[in-house]
Formats: sequence, structure tokens, C-alpha cells
Amino acid sequence: MIKKINIAIDGPAASGKSAAAALLAKKVDYNYMDTGIMYRSFTEYCLKKQIPFDSEDLVTQALELFEMKWVNGHFLFNGQPVTDEIYSANVTKNVPKIAALPEVRKIIVKRIQDIVKTQGFIVVGRDIASVVLPDAQLKIFLTSSLHARSIRRYKQYIKEGINIKQEQVYEDMLLRDNTDKNRSTGRLIIVEDAKVLDNSDYDLQVTVAKLTSLYHNYFSH
Ligand code: CDP
Ligand code: CDP
Repeated sequence: MIKKINIAIDGPAASGKSAAAALLAKKVDYNYMDTGIMYRSFTEYCLKKQIPFDSEDLVTQALELFEMKWVNGHFLFNGQPVTDEIYSANVTKNVPKIAALPEVRKIIVKRIQDIVKTQGFIVVGRDIASVVLPDAQLKIFLTSSLHARSIRRYKQYIKEGINIKQEQVYEDMLLRDNTDKNRSTGRLIIVEDAKVLDNSDYDLQVTVAKLTSLYHNYFSH
């Protein structure tokens, strides 16, 4: 049997990380973990509880009480599975504010590391190769142009019946990219040993094929 490794996949919003990594995980029989879900679920919780985002102390206290469990390959938050609410416009707009708080990042990074104790994980996020799993054997930075990404996200919204203008999706994504790239800790960077894959001109199937090649190449070198 082929030895399992850990794979870190980072990249900006709508670069195809989640969709492509989930398909790769199925293909190679790995655990797939999307860490964006942790930041989104906690942001949804803070909005619901009206925790003031500008008080890092209150947000951190809330996070200490917000249970995140990984059960049979899925997250449970305070015992509940995730709902579509975490992808709402309000959560999407606010999540970078929560994700920019260094104490919040410290706790969530530790929680991911506590789950990923063995090999055989594909972990997707922004700071996976740089902070969470610097020892991951394969590090991939998946990216695409802002134009391609905003069209993809716009199509997702339309499919889900969300009424939004394409220009708005572009503006929101630009703002989120900038916040994710410029925060003080865990910012989105390309680490030196990452394989960079720009999939602006590829569809999902080709993207998965390219990722699969990177995976097999790791073992042949
Ligand atoms: O799917 P999409 O790319 O829109 O976002 P996501 O991966 O669900 O992540 C939502 C937000 O969570 C990002 O914009 C980041 O601010 C934050 N995030 C992070 O800071 N670190 C991670 N490892 C994952 C997500
Ligand atoms: O996880 P992330 O935010 O990076 O992106 P995603 O949610 O996996 O992908 C955003 C949308 O783009 C999904 O509907 C994907 O199926 C689609 N996609 C695409 O059309 N072409 C690609 N090469 C990659 C993803």
C-alpha cells in the first residue's frame, strides 16, 4: 500500500480549493478538511451572539466556549453539523475581521493541529503550508485571476438563487483578498517550497487532474 502524506492547499477565495481538494481526497482516499468552515462557523456564532468584533478579549472568550469537533471526517460545532448559513453574504463579509484577530488564529491553528495528528489529510485554507502544517510533505498554492474567481463565485450565487451583481462579487472578493493578504498573522502567502498552480484557464476536472499529477509526482521523486 502507498504511504500516506499530508497535503496543504492554500489560495485565495474561489480558486477552487474546496471543490478540487474534495475530489482529490476521494480519488486518493484521504481525509479532506476545509478550515474555512471553522472561521465561518465561529463568525456565524459571534454574529448570532452579538459579540463585538472589536473586542479581541470577548471574541477569544467566546471561542474558548465554542466547541469544534472532527467526527467521522466532518466538523461538529457545539455538537451541530454546519448549515448553509455559514456561506451567507453577512458571514462572508465578516469572516475576515474575525480571521484577522491573532488570538483567534492561535486557537484555531492549535485545534487544526490537534485533529491532524496522523498522515492522510488534505487540509485547505490560507495559512496551512505557512503556519498550520509547515511539515506537510506536499504544499500547493492554488490560484486564479480575480476575474476568473469572481465569475465562478457569481455563478455559484446565481445557481443558489442569490440575487447579486457580478461587479459586487468582484468588489467583495477584492476586499477579502486584501484583508487575507495584509493581516498581521497567518496572512495568505506562497511559501518557498509550494507548487503553484494557476487554474484561471482550467475547469474543475482539469484542476483535479493537475493536482493528482502533483500528488503522484511527489512519490516519483
Ligand atoms: O470559500 P472561500 O474561499 O470563499 O472562503 P473560505 O475558505 O471558506 O474562508 C473564509 C475566510 O476564512 C477567508 O476569507 C479567511 O479570512 C478565513 N480563513 C483563514 O483566515 N484561514 C484559513 N485557514 C481558512 C480561512
Ligand atoms: O474553496 P474555494 O473558495 O477556493 O473555491 P471553490 O468553492 O472550490 O470553487 C468555487 C467555484 O468555482 C465552485 O463552483 C467550483 O466548482 C468552481 N471551479 C471552477 O469552475 N473551475 C475551477 N477550475 C475550479 C473551481
